[in-house]
Amino acid sequence: MKVISRAPGKLILFGEHFVVYDKTAIVMAIDRYVYSTISLRKDKDIHINSETLGVEGVFSNGKYRPRKGGMEGKEKLQPLMKCINAVLAIYGKRVGLNIQISSDIPVAAGLGSSAATAVSLAAGLSELLELGLSKEVINRLAYESEVMIHYTPSGVDNTISTYGGLLRYNKGWKNKIRRLRIKYDIPLLIADTGRPRNTGVQVSIVRSIYNNFPKLFLEILRVYDKIYRNAINAIKKRDLKELGLLMNINQGLLSAVGVSSIELDILVNIALDRGAYGAKLTGAGGGGCMITLVDKDRAHDLEKSISKYCKEVLFVSTDNKGVTAKIVK
Ligand code: PMV
Repeated sequence: MKVISRAPGKLILFGEHFVVYDKTAIVMAIDRYVYSTISLRKDKDIHINSETLGVEGVFSNGKYRPRKGGMEGKEKLQPLMKCINAVLAIYGKRVGLNIQISSDIPVAAGLGSSAATAVSLAAGLSELLELGLSKEVINRLAYESEVMIHYTPSGVDNTISTYGGLLRYNKGWKNKIRRLRIKYDIPLLIADTGRPRNTGVQVSIVRSIYNNFPKLFLEILRVYDKIYRNAINAIKKRDLKELGLLMNINQGLLSAVGVSSIELDILVNIALDRGAYGAKLTGAGGGGCMITLVDKDRAHDLEKSISKYCKEVLFVSTDNKGVTAKIVK
């Protein structure tokens, strides 16, 4: 018997970085997933093969034996072990596991692949060990794994991957999320610059602006708040023109706090030049992905124009389910 679980990636429509400073982000789960296939072993070893990270190895009695990717693999897999151990602690018994991880979410591109991995693992293990963990608990366990990777994550990535849909997220709210229910798919296209970046480093760039210019930074946060409120209205009204303009202003603020990059700026400018409603970086920036709001009938022309300036163009829709797990005999 094995369990197959799947957790979606995400894109941040508005509010990356500002969400760390208690502002509200608007975030959407996308139909790109991390898949975990998990089964029990006869011994007590934990065997992980992550196609996504390009590493494979065995954790046995506190020691790591690499199969692929050398000893570096241990560091890459450690955040996953944190999540696995947290679930096993709830189970109360040590068991051996075979875990296979694959994904169609680009890695280190701001689309939430690390959080989706942890979420899929927690949900898959809960199913395999018949723990019946709630989404709330799965989300909390995945967050622990994110802390190991990003130090002070806002929790937005693991939350959207757990619940799916279109959410408002504010780490200061009691329940952290409010669902945004709309009856249409926001027409977005993603372009991956192909330049990997580190979320922690990007967050520290913004932190240094905050430390050097605290008053100025507060003004930026105030402006972002207005963008957010207008964006909620534009989404509800399905006013794509207004929504696009607001994305452009948000991109201006992200540029101001130092997290855009030459690759992102080029993609943003081409998209706007070719008639998109708006464009901005998504996620931590410094590389990773750009998102652009563009009518469906123009999307393929735009794809042609930007594909020579990026690694990959992705067409995505909203995932409304969040994480799922099922037993396969
Ligand atoms: O890891 P990314 O690229 O999806 O960025 C996460 C969003 C940030 O706001 C930059 C960081 C955070 O913890 O919210």
